[in-house]
Order: sequence, then structure tokens, then C-alpha cells
Amino acid sequence: MSNNIESTLHETRKFAPPAEFTSLAHISSEEQYQQMWNRAKDDPAGFWGDLAKEHLHWFKPFDQAMVGTMPNTKWFVGGETNACYNCVDKHLSTWRKNKAAIIWEGEPGDTRVLTYQDLHREVCKFANVLIQLGVKTGDRVTLYMPMIPELTIAMLACARIGATHSIIFGGFSADAVADRNNDAQAKVVVTADGGWRRGKEVVLKKAVDASLAKSPSVQKVVVVRRTGGEVQMTPDRDYWWHELMDGASADCDAVPVDSEHPLFILYTSGSTGKPKGVLHTTAGYNLGTMMTTKWVFDLKDEDTYWCTADIGWITGHSYICYGPLANGASVVMFEGAPNWPDNGRFWEIIEKYKVSIFYTAPTAIRAFIKWGDEWPNKYDLSSLRLLGSVGEPINPEAWMWYHKVIGAERCPIVDTWWQTETGAIMISPLPGITSTKPGSCTRPLPGVVTEIVNEKGEPVPANNGGLLVIKQSWPSMLRTLYGDHKRYEEVYFGKLPGLYFAGDGARKDEDGFYWVMGRIDDVLNVSGHRLSTMEVESALVSHPLVAEAAVVGFPHDIKGEGICCFVIPKGEIPADEAKKELIAHVRKQIGALATPDQIRFTPALPKTRSGKIMRRLLRDIAAGRESAGDTSTLEDFSILAKLRDDEE
Ligand code: WT7
Repeated sequence: MSNNIESTLHETRKFAPPAEFTSLAHISSEEQYQQMWNRAKDDPAGFWGDLAKEHLHWFKPFDQAMVGTMPNTKWFVGGETNACYNCVDKHLSTWRKNKAAIIWEGEPGDTRVLTYQDLHREVCKFANVLIQLGVKTGDRVTLYMPMIPELTIAMLACARIGATHSIIFGGFSADAVADRNNDAQAKVVVTADGGWRRGKEVVLKKAVDASLAKSPSVQKVVVVRRTGGEVQMTPDRDYWWHELMDGASADCDAVPVDSEHPLFILYTSGSTGKPKGVLHTTAGYNLGTMMTTKWVFDLKDEDTYWCTADIGWITGHSYICYGPLANGASVVMFEGAPNWPDNGRFWEIIEKYKVSIFYTAPTAIRAFIKWGDEWPNKYDLSSLRLLGSVGEPINPEAWMWYHKVIGAERCPIVDTWWQTETGAIMISPLPGITSTKPGSCTRPLPGVVTEIVNEKGEPVPANNGGLLVIKQSWPSMLRTLYGDHKRYEEVYFGKLPGLYFAGDGARKDEDGFYWVMGRIDDVLNVSGHRLSTMEVESALVSHPLVAEAAVVGFPHDIKGEGICCFVIPKGEIPADEAKKELIAHVRKQIGALATPDQIRFTPALPKTRSGKIMRRLLRDIAAGRESAGDTSTLEDFSILAKLRDDEE
């Protein structure tokens, strides 16, 4: 397999950081980076232990910084801390007490600013609400909410009392919520009537109602009034947020929890079966996100920092909430879409709040390019000093546009490679020292030991494609897949024993810079979101019309990858109306984010003689390419011609 990973991208442009940026940066010399990186490699316990002592509050100091090796490492063993305390309380005894923590803007243009003191009060009150509702340390709480401050408040309130939050992105359907509630055995769900997206209400409470019929573990529901839309409140189960908060006390001590106490579960897609409940624990995740925020974004107290992700994804967990707040940052949070009421909304926000650090995704950048330079050019973006990218490889042309049109050739770009599982950024430029190359996430951060290897786990020569692995444990790594430790060991460590295999193909160039080429498993990257082809296939097959389905990705201008579904119907090939029905069915099963771009009915699928679907051929057809590869094992050759005919 690794021999088939061919790298065709040959990018030679290089951009050195501006001298002024370097002189002020937290990491400001190559020697400093080398020294940190080498120490962390040779003595991870010493390196991370020192940082943990310096930056986290310990109710009880840890005895050992690191115990064991991957896959079962424990960090800061014997210590007791609290992630909410580290993100909020810690700042109250400093001048940051009245610094803006969250600068929020709703899609309709309403705004709220919460200082650290405000945030503390709201979090304490909501922590008391959770306690009143029967939530205990160790219980799971589902958060299914729009991008409003109450979401951050609810996360931190869970952390404060040692409840484990499980956030479900608002684009998921009722069925997906029910699955996740059941897997986590959630006791309470926090939601809202709905949220605003492109002027329309995205209803959430209705989906929660539908999900609860299938998830009996949930006893109580808290509902934030956001849109004012109509909701059904079930007595003794459903409560309004504002009514509970009215009566709640603002005194609530942070509960000291063990370093390895579960902080949150976040479900992500794998190549097979149901979504994986990635579990992150307290101290290591807290420290990893805090240090990487400081190093990668070169975060200073004067910065106004904006990450455009939704908190429902790991990027939002780590780089809207835990990382920046632990550093005492001022964080912009925005509810809406980049193109509402018009295509200039993001640039308007940057100008309005004088955003200095801006972190977004390649899929958004490609949309901005399509909408035209006139939109950013209308606004004053001179407050920006650093730009970031995350979610998928950024194509060099999108990188150049970001650099020129948004960064005015002045702002370093950090292309950050990481995953839900890694918790924090792993490979990224350090903006004060790294000469960036468009399309490369450059080099591993201190504490991150990566390699490109072949199928046997042996390092491959420079510029050869291979599998991206991590060789040494790091504090913010996932600890398990919730309720399925065996699957955790198999998925991440089963392929190459002793090495964490990320699922990505990549190469390392002659300077040791990494170029990530994408997933090598059956996982799509649609608009920067991981989606399993298996899940879409099971959703299709659960429809009475469908006998068999095969789902593949194809190159898509904006989304990166689009979703193409080849469907064998149970009877005759149905009329085109049925395509709409199947699309609606997938949306109902998984959510809007999994909306198929193409449905193609076919009487059969190309299979090998052993019965394996030849996905490579389907990918060629979906992309409108001629199949170049070997078809000698194809069982029924005529099927290829039939599949192509359907294209018209
Ligand atoms: C997968 C992880 C990390 C938060 C958002 C996605 C791809 C992510 C990059 C990047 C190339 C990237 C990888 C990775 N990916 N960032 N900078 N360059 N690829 O988190 O849903 O867990 O997906 O996203 O394929 O494995 P996720």
C-alpha cells in the first residue's frame, strides 16, 4: 500500500517569518526549538513535567509525570487538578479578572462580552444547576447546542464538577444524537430551541425530543432560549436554562479530579462500524492545548484571537475553549456562516473586533476565493498578524491567496496538522522561526516524535510517500475509545505495533518538512470533517429501496471531497425522484453534513473475484476519470461501462 502512495506535489516556494515577528515571538530561534524538541524526545517526563508544574494549578501535586508507554501511557500520575479552574479561576487573581474572555457575536448581529469574572460566575451557576439535576462527578452530559456562550459555559461547568461532556455538532440528526447518548449513557442533555444559520433557524430541541425516544439513559434536558422558536417542554424532564440559572448560587468550588479523569468524549468517524468515542482526560489535554496555543499562535495577552470552527468539532474544543482560555486570551466566538448576510461577514468581524489571530479551514478559504477578492478588500484587515489553517491539506494556490489577500504578505501562516485523537496540534510551523512552504504543515512540535514509515514500520527515505506515525506518547493523546479499549488498541496500534498510526499518508522532504497527502483508509474529508464511507453506506442500506451501496469520495472545488453513492436498488432502477428520497434519508440518519452530492443507481458493482468492491474504479468513475489501473481481477467487466453510462 505505502508503495502506492505517490506524491505529485512539488512546491518550492519558501516564506521566511518577518524579522519583527521573530524578535517578539515566544519561540524565537531555531536553537530554542531544537533544544526544546531534543529535550522532549530524550526526557518527555522531564520536559512535560516542568511545564505542567509551571502552568497548571495542582490541588495535589503529581508523583510521576509519565508512566508507561503507548498505547497505555498515564500522565501526571497521582496529581489532582481541574481544567475549569485552569481556564477560568486561575485568572481571577490577576489583572485578567476583568479582561474579555469571550467576545461573542450572533448571526443576527447581537453581541455579548463575558470577562473572566463573568465567565466564572456563569460557570459556577450552571455547575450548581447540573448538581441540582443530579449530575455527579463521572457522569456524562451531552451538549447539543449552537455557537452561543452557553455552550462554553456548559463545557466548563461539566469540567468544574468532573462530569464528562460529550458535544454533538448541531448538524447531526436525531438518530445520531440518540446513538451517541446511548453509547455514552448520558444522563442530561443541554440544548437550545435552535440556532441561527443563514437567516434560518436550525432547530435543535425537536431533534432532542426525537432522540430521547431512543435514548432512555437521559433523565433531564436543559433548553437555552436562543431563537424564540416554538418548543415542546415535557414536565419534570425539560427545563429552561434561564429559569434554572435565576435561582442558582454563584458559589461552586472546582472539584479536584485525578489527572487522568475523563474530561470529554468526542465522537469521530473511523473506517468501519459505529462512530468512535474518543476519550480525552484532564491534565494532559489541558496542558497540551494550552502550550500549543501559546507556541503555534504565538499568543500574547494583547491578541484578539478568532478560531472559526464550531465547538462541536475538536478544533473548537481545543482552540476556542480549553487552549486559549487556559492562556487567558480574548476569544472571538461567532454563531453564523461566512456568507450571511453577505460574503463579507468574516472580514467585517475581523475589522470590527480588530482580530489579530485568525484560524480557519481550507474549505472556507476555497469558498472565499470563489466569492472574489472584492469582499475582503472592502474591509480593513490590518489588525491581523497571524493566520492559521486546519482540517485538511491546504492546496498551495489557496495558501498563496490566503497569504496575499488576507495576510497582505505580512502574516505568517501556520498550517496545523492534528486530529480529534491527538487532542492538540502535532505538526505545524512555529511562526517566529519556520520558513513555510505552501502546502506543508512543516515540522513536529516539541514533544511530538513523528516518522514516515512503510507497511513494516520502517522509515522510508526523504521524499518517499508512506504512513504518518507518532512514535512517542504525548500528554494530550486520546486514552481510549469510550467503552471499547480493544478497538482503541486495534485501530491506532494494531497496524504497526508500538507506533500510533494516524491513518494519513504523507511524505517528509529533504528539510524534514511534512506534506500530508490525506487519509489512506475509507474515510472521507468533506469540508474538513471526517466522514466514514461505511456509515453512509449503512444509512443507505437501511432504506427499503436499497439492496447494496458503495460510497466513495471525489474531488470537489469547495468541499475538498464530495460524496458519491453507487446504489443497487432492490427492484428495477427507480425514477430520479428516488434519488432525492435517498439523499433525505441519509440526512435523517446522519445529518446534513453527510448529504450525498451524487446518487448513481446501478444494477451491480465492480467486484473482484473474491467479492471485494473495487473502490478505486468507483473513485475514477465518480471523478469522471478514465480508469488507468489494473482491472484484470474484475469479475464482470461490462459493469464498468454501465456505471459510466449513468453519468449522462
Ligand atoms: C484528519 C483529522 C484537526 C482538527 C480538524 C480535523 C486531516 C487535519 C490537516 C492539515 C493535512 C489535515 C488529516 C487528519 N487534517 N489537519 N493541516 N493538513 N491534513 O480533525 O476530524 O479528527 O480529522 O484531518 O487527514 O488525519 P479530524
